Amino acid sequence: MRNFAKSLAALTAISALALTSCGREDAGTDTGTDTGTAAASTCEGFEDGAAIGVALPQKTSENWVLAEQLFNEGLSDAGYEPSVQFANGGVSEQQAQINAMITNGVEVLVVGAIDGAQLGNQLQQAKDAGITVLAYDRLLTNTENVDYYVAYDNFKVGELQGQALLDGLAERKGEAPYNIELFAGSPDDANAQVFFDGAMSVLQPKIDDGTLNVVSGQTAFDQAVTQGWKAENAQKRADTLLSGNYASEDLDGVLSPNDTLARAVLTSVKAAGKDIPVVTGQDSEVESVKSIVAGEQYSTINKDTRDLVEHTITMVEGLGACEEIEVNDTDSYDNGVKTVPAYLLEPQIVTEENAADAYADDPTLSEITK
Ligand code: BGC
Repeated sequence: MRNFAKSLAALTAISALALTSCGREDAGTDTGTDTGTAAASTCEGFEDGAAIGVALPQKTSENWVLAEQLFNEGLSDAGYEPSVQFANGGVSEQQAQINAMITNGVEVLVVGAIDGAQLGNQLQQAKDAGITVLAYDRLLTNTENVDYYVAYDNFKVGELQGQALLDGLAERKGEAPYNIELFAGSPDDANAQVFFDGAMSVLQPKIDDGTLNVVSGQTAFDQAVTQGWKAENAQKRADTLLSGNYASEDLDGVLSPNDTLARAVLTSVKAAGKDIPVVTGQDSEVESVKSIVAGEQYSTINKDTRDLVEHTITMVEGLGACEEIEVNDTDSYDNGVKTVPAYLLEPQIVTEENAADAYADDPTLSEITK
């Protein structure tokens, strides 16, 4: 999906500037020629009081719940009228919500998709109505009607998880070889494959050289997925893996793509009466940070939602003012139809060792790690 080798370089590279759509264009001045770069002069922008739609997925992790609150507060403070909605009922509910946002005249649509490939009709209507579309956290795929992507660097998240698993095994489980199992996120979320690929870029060479042994043999993404990012699905698969493969073996480590699934795996392991393996995570959820401090879950990823939402709102303001929108990656996120200009933030690995530091300015988490 992306050219990963360039990810780090792209992040540190000087920001490229992308000039695609910019608020509503003035249909009256359209000369009928499409040069592929909507000229800033046709940009009408938008002002205080403009409606901004934010379509969020299901509440599959705490970061989404926090995003709801931060978008409502931040967009209101910036003078806009936010409409922030979850689609706990699934894809068709999210489609209906986006339809309604378009009808209600939003200037910008910020979309955290449940299934990034299922919004083609809605995004076409948004484009026809001159609405700018920002893919938030998760890429929108198979459509040309997405203007920007704003997210933490997903491949880097996977790399950090893979490396944390190796570090944790060396720290807590003595000499190699180690028995491990692999978990991935929900296959309808474009991020899930990217997290997995990032992790496997670190782990596969260690599987190949015998340092790591995936006892179940389930090393393919399709075998490792967790539908809907649901804890119960990960727990069920962990139960099955343990009873089928670990009757007389230790399970030393588990690649888990996020904290919700990490805790599900730990629940399963404890129920099976096995020693606690090294388990990775992501999202810095409260219960997982507690678990890390207590020496159980090994790692998580700090992707501060405050920074991601703040940056997204900065983009919205730039669109309103007809400014050029800053991006720092223009070649990684090919969505199947186009390469979406992206602004990527840098994720951070967190273990017991650096937790106090990492969360020093987080009012909730610093209470746990201080
Ligand atoms: C987000 C993760 C989150 C997962 C489940 C992903 O798209 O990037 O941070 O853990 O969704 O909610």
